Amino acid sequence: MGYNKKIEKGMINLQRPILIGITGGTGSGKSTVAQEIFNSLPEKNIVIIEQDSYYKDQSHLTFEERIKTNYDHPLAFDNDLLIKHLKDLLEGKPIEKPIYDFEAHNRKKETVRVEPKDIIILEGILILDDERIRNLLDIKIFVDTDADIRIIRRITRDIKERGRTLESVIEQYLTTVRPAHMQFIEPSKKYADIIIPEGGYNKVAIDLMVTKIKSIIMQKQK
Ligand code: ADP
Ligand code: C5P
Ligand code: MG
Repeated sequence: MGYNKKIEKGMINLQRPILIGITGGTGSGKSTVAQEIFNSLPEKNIVIIEQDSYYKDQSHLTFEERIKTNYDHPLAFDNDLLIKHLKDLLEGKPIEKPIYDFEAHNRKKETVRVEPKDIIILEGILILDDERIRNLLDIKIFVDTDADIRIIRRITRDIKERGRTLESVIEQYLTTVRPAHMQFIEPSKKYADIIIPEGGYNKVAIDLMVTKIKSIIMQKQK
């Protein structure tokens, strides 16, 4: 089997689950694209892994200290654990996925059991930046959305869903999110196989991905 062995560059190894990576800047629409693909596959032989779930445990820090963390730097993520879990899933083993609490800026004590599936979608801001993750991915997608649209989406979402104030989103964007985007995320676009403009409601791009995934599933069943 060998999860880290490519049969040939560009060929998909049908002997193991297929790992699809979706990256792009904050607010680009990664999570929405992943969810739309999931919703379009009736058999649900698919699982989504969010890189956000693998932010490092910060229980040893006070809340005030946690606010100061740079959550857009590669070192904020426990990619060692993420890679171990990806390899487990690729070998057909279940994992105990961490649960992240954006309001507490910390990992929760509980985990969630994730069963292996034939299609695994990994989505997050810094997955193509890590060569070890890149080497595991069969299909690499970059969701490309202009920065002005992304910050507008982020302000709306973070206030509604992540317990933030307008001032805190703007301050974080200018001090850490934007610089890290330019340093790590934008340059990782060159590793993508496919670029999807605008994100979640790009129906043509989502339909193309769903058709491709369905054809892989059919080939695997042969
Ligand atoms: P990401 O995971 O890349 O940060 P999300 O998928 O969470 O981005 O999208 C951020 C916000 O923008 C969400 O509220 C989502 O509903 C919205 N959104 C995503 N794609 C689009 C789109 N194509 N047009 C308008 N809004 C979108
Ligand atoms: O879904 P999205 O790509 O926006 O998630 C990643 C973003 O979450 C990063 O840009 C990071 O700034 C933000 N984040 C945060 N607070 C945390 C952890 C992540 O604002 N505690
Ligand atoms: Mg997201």
